[in-house]
Amino acid sequence: MERRAFLLRLPVLSAGVAVGAATVPLGGCGGSRYLVPLEAGDRLTIPLSSLPDGADAFLQTPAMERPVWVRREGDDVVALLARCTHRGCQPEPVGDRLSCPCHGSEFSLTGEVLEGPAERPLIRFAAAIEGDEVIVRLHRRVG
Ligand code: FES
Repeated sequence: MERRAFLLRLPVLSAGVAVGAATVPLGGCGGSRYLVPLEAGDRLTIPLSSLPDGADAFLQTPAMERPVWVRREGDDVVALLARCTHRGCQPEPVGDRLSCPCHGSEFSLTGEVLEGPAERPLIRFAAAIEGDEVIVRLHRRVG
């Protein structure tokens, strides 16, 4: 299935998410934030100021079933589809890993499987800091 078609099949976000790269607290214990990125073509864009060094966030538009989890470390940005490769639940960041609440799979912060039952890494997208923005390219996979 083409990526765009896949992403457009995703269910709509729950209530409580603002528009315009606003920060919205997530109710979970991990304290992750949701940001609503600008979407143009295959690009998701957020202001660099919304992702300080060492911070992470979920990016999600109403058209996306699962968010993209991003984490910045200096000038590097990792962007992962927050969809477990086991059965599709949403992993959450817990310390130095992403943990799936459904069956316990664990992934590194770059998406590699640390513990199953998932056997494949999370989908990773190309992401970079460009000027004063963070840009994720959904049509460019890494790895
Ligand atoms: Fe993530 Fe099963 S859906 S471990």
